[in-house]
Amino acid sequence: MNKRVLILGGTGEAAKLARRLDPEIPESVEVITSLAGRTKNPPDLPGRVISGGFGGTQGLKTFIEQEGITLVIDATHPFAETISDSANVACTVTDTPRMTLARPEWRLPPDGKWLEVDDMAAASEAIRAFAKRTFLTIGTRGLDAFSDHDEMWFLVRLIEEPDNPLPLKDYLIITGRPPHDLEAERQLITDYNIDCLVSKHAGGAATEGKIRAALAAQIPIVLIRRPPRLPGHWTESLEDCVEWIMKQL
Ligand SMILES: NC(=O)c1ccc[n+]([C@@H]2O[C@H](COP(=O)([O-])OP(=O)(O)OC[C@H]3O[C@@H](n4cnc5c(N)ncnc54)[C@H](OP(=O)(O)O)[C@@H]3O)[C@@H](O)[C@H]2O)c1
Repeated sequence: MNKRVLILGGTGEAAKLARRLDPEIPESVEVITSLAGRTKNPPDLPGRVISGGFGGTQGLKTFIEQEGITLVIDATHPFAETISDSANVACTVTDTPRMTLARPEWRLPPDGKWLEVDDMAAASEAIRAFAKRTFLTIGTRGLDAFSDHDEMWFLVRLIEEPDNPLPLKDYLIITGRPPHDLEAERQLITDYNIDCLVSKHAGGAATEGKIRAALAAQIPIVLIRRPPRLPGHWTESLEDCVEWIMKQL
């Protein structure tokens, strides 16, 4: 084993890449997928899977050096800024090629009922004007920003049941891992009488159903703006990413 590809994961894109590489990659190359370790039941992935973080940028740099990592693929969520910044710096200082496998942005109609805001606090403020029953699909981090709504009911979708109660006054949790299809999303909006959707503007096909369903139901969508793109190689195509990896090896 003399080459190693490190996939920074925690997303469906990273899982697809690991599965796609598995049958194709030469036997002399090891694929390692790294997860933050936030969920109790991560999906089964081929290759070596590590979990729990590296200990900051310095830790990732040390890992790259000690494990002899040849390439890093940043396939993390577009809002996972800390690990992406770490990868950018650690790869730069170790001179390790890095590719970002990103999600294509959602295409929203310019005249549709949606608005983009800078952060959770702004989203929380915005919905006061028009919502009573909000579908929150932002994960657990950031929910604090919605804690002072006294008259709002929230439908909160999470990957798995949280260990602690949420910092919201009136809510229901549903669990599920993407992809979520359009029909099921439409049904949720109808069944729970949802009048507003709040989401990160993450993009990608696996979570686009809720956006299409909200547009179809003509309920307002509040999107948290995507963080700026980091420098370096970047693609939205799994095939291009695989091709780049094969060329580098
Ligand atoms: N943010 C979202 O909305 C979102 C949504 C879906 C999935 N995810 C996935 O969930 C994970 C955590 O997201 P986050 O927003 O909390 O990330 P983050 O803020 O960028 O990262 C926080 C810390 O978690 C560790 N970490 C994150 N991703 C890692 C990975 N793939 N491998 C090893 N360590 C990782 C790193 O610890 P060390 O500094 O110790 O290395 C990092 O400093 C990410 O892998 C992301 O792809 C995030």
